[in-house]
Amino acid sequence: METRLMDQNLHTDDQELSLRPVRLNQYIGQNKVKANIQVFIEAAKLRSEALDHILLYGPPGLGKTTLAAIIAHELGVNIRYTSGPTLERSGDLAAILSALEPGDVLFIDEIHRMPRNIEEILYPAMEDYCLDIIIGKDASARNVRIDLPPFTLVGATTRAGDLSAPLRDRFGVMSRLEYYSIEELTLIVERTATIFDLTIEPQAAVEIGRRSRGTPRIANRIFRRVRDFAQVYGSDTITTVIAKEALTRLEIDAYGLDHVDHKLLLGMIERFRGGPVGLEALAASIAEEAQTIEDVYEPFLLQEGFIQRTPRGRVATRKAYEHLQLPIPEHII
Ligand SMILES: Nc1ncnc2c1ncn2[C@@H]1O[C@H](COP(=O)(O)OP(=O)(O)O)[C@@H](O)[C@H]1O
Ligand SMILES: [Mg+2]
Repeated sequence: METRLMDQNLHTDDQELSLRPVRLNQYIGQNKVKANIQVFIEAAKLRSEALDHILLYGPPGLGKTTLAAIIAHELGVNIRYTSGPTLERSGDLAAILSALEPGDVLFIDEIHRMPRNIEEILYPAMEDYCLDIIIGKDASARNVRIDLPPFTLVGATTRAGDLSAPLRDRFGVMSRLEYYSIEELTLIVERTATIFDLTIEPQAAVEIGRRSRGTPRIANRIFRRVRDFAQVYGSDTITTVIAKEALTRLEIDAYGLDHVDHKLLLGMIERFRGGPVGLEALAASIAEEAQTIEDVYEPFLLQEGFIQRTPRGRVATRKAYEHLQLPIPEHII
């Protein structure tokens, strides 16, 4: 049976809600982004104005949704959640916008997947806090402008590059979330253990942190699986031995790579002689979705230097061969 900790990463699961920090000072890491946002929040409060629109971007599971909720909480306003793909009709967005109270946060997840006609409603809403709607048909049709309360749009996306220029330009702040360090992930795991009322050996937390691909969501998911092992072994402490045993059984290696990463790297090496290979061909050869590879798997493999992107496609690096303990071909530099 394969255990997947990654492929549903684009979505949040229920248990995650209880693990979300609610204050900015409980949000671990992302120090640059946090420091900036702190200043903007304070300034907006001092001026009693709505905070400028913010775009949060970066790979799944790094804390975009969490941060949006924290921003609203720190501002002392309500947050409304919606997402690009669910906004189908212009009336949906108009209804949400006109129900906002002054200063509220509107969170649009996967904002790069918003239909174009909906996006156009958002332009005047973001810029002038108003809605331009057409009432009536044909000859009797007329434009009506409706004022909206000042609000803050927080958009989240894994693909900032897919946003249209006019939409991007309307964000006052664009913050890119980075992968977390092992130390930060260790703190997150320890915090999660406290919330679950469990003791964890320091080295066990480090081990989970090290193998979480820089991603809090994965750290928390691994933690929950490790907790299952501890429970079955009848241990009320998560020991390093149990953590390592669980990670081995979950087939998560020393770098945090799982069997899909292995399949991907092996696919590149064995079927395409290490590349260059196009995304679609690679995806088809290992029976994974191209979008999942691009959004979920590839960013970490690129960042860690297991693969490189070239104009002709993806290539496996020397580090990939070494990690998989495969003979390094001569054409690899
Ligand atoms: N900075 C952080 N500190 C502590 N926990 C975090 C942090 N960022 C994310 N998390 C945890 O990771 C989970 C996933 O975060 P989420 O905001 O849903 O990511 P995204 O929206 O970027 O996919 C959350 O439930 C939260 O528990
Ligand atoms: Mg999210």
